[in-house]
Order: sequence, then C-alpha cells, then structure tokens
Amino acid sequence: MLITDIDEMKAMHESAVVDSGFVATCGRMHDLNTLPGFAALTDEGILGTVFYLIENHECEIVSLESRKENLGVGSALVQRVVDHARTASCRRVWLVTTNENLRAIRFYQRRGFEMKAIHRNAVEAARKLKPSIPFTSEDGIPIKHEIEFEMLL
Ligand SMILES: CC(C)(COP(=O)(O)OP(=O)(O)OC[C@H]1O[C@@H](n2cnc3c(N)ncnc32)[C@H](O)[C@@H]1OP(=O)(O)O)[C@@H](O)C(=O)NCCC(=O)NCCS
Repeated sequence: MLITDIDEMKAMHESAVVDSGFVATCGRMHDLNTLPGFAALTDEGILGTVFYLIENHECEIVSLESRKENLGVGSALVQRVVDHARTASCRRVWLVTTNENLRAIRFYQRRGFEMKAIHRNAVEAARKLKPSIPFTSEDGIPIKHEIEFEMLL
C-alpha cells in the first residue's frame, strides 16, 4: 500500500475518483475538493482518503474514510497526516467525530488521540450547514454531539 498526496495523484491520473463533498466540523463547512489530503493506493485502486487543514500551527483531520476496513488503511493515513503535521511544525493534530461513531471513538483512542472536549449539541449547528446529516444512526443512537480528539506533537 502506497500513501500518496492527493493533488499529485490527481495530476498524474486525471480519472482518479477521490472522495468529494462537504463536511461540517465545529460549525464550519469544508469543501473536500479544496483541502490537501492523502490517498491509500494499491493495484486495486484507492483504498481510503484523508483530508486535513492546517491553520495556526494546528492540523485538523477534516475527513478520514477507509473503503476497505481492518487492513490498516485508516491507521496508515492518520500516521501520514501526523508525520506531515510534525514536519509543518504543528503543535497538535485534532478532529471531531460524532457521539454515535463508536468505531471512530475506539479507533482514534487506540492510536494515541485523547478526548479533549465534548461539544454538546454541536450537530444541530452542523445540520443547519448540511441538512442531510441524519438524526439517528443505523443502530438507533441519536446523533447530537461532537467529540473532539487531539494528539499533542
Ligand atoms: C474509522 C475508520 C477510518 C478506520 O479505518 P480502517 O481502515 O478500518 O482502520 P485500520 O484498518 O487501520 O484499523 C482498524 C482495525 O483493523 C485492525 N487491523 C489493522 N491492520 C490490520 C491487518 N493487516 N490485519 C488485520 N487487522 C488489522 C486494527 O488492529 C484496527 O483495530 P483496533 O482499532 O482494535 O486496533 C473506518 O472505519 C471508516 O472509514 N469509518 C467511516 C468514516 C469515519 O468514521 N471516519 C472517522 C471519523 S472522522
């Protein structure tokens, strides 16, 4: 598996289909098309992507998506962002996930991220920006709060 810069990949393979769309985090809308990111590539194609935003010496993971779970794709992409953030002299890598995303809550903690804050009812504000955010998860958990995780560098 190769972890590659998304802009470089798009330049080399114009047909590459990369995740796109809008993600709302902390009351702010992000267009993934405008963010830097990395893709996990194999002969089978793109196995996952991560998009990030560096501001004020902090690196936010805005989106992380694995298309083939439990093979190390998510771990490799997060590690690449952390390495990049260190090189860019960031003081922390942070992200928010929502309260029903138990897999992500487990995933990030097992990879050294700490729970920094719970932004109660933050998803209400996110829904105003992105009305397609569902109210309930597939397993019946109300989607309401954003949980902020961070790794200090
Ligand atoms: C959360 C998410 C990114 C994890 O991606 P992933 O590719 O499954 O992540 P990994 O494969 O690196 O790790 C998942 C598990 O697989 C295991 N694993 C990793 N490599 C493995 C391998 N070669 N063989 C077997 N198991 C492996 C890991 O041990 C890990 O389990 P652990 O958490 O108990 O340590 C993925 O579930 C996802 O895309 N979810 C939907 C979007 C989302 O929630 N994004 C995060 C919110 S921002």
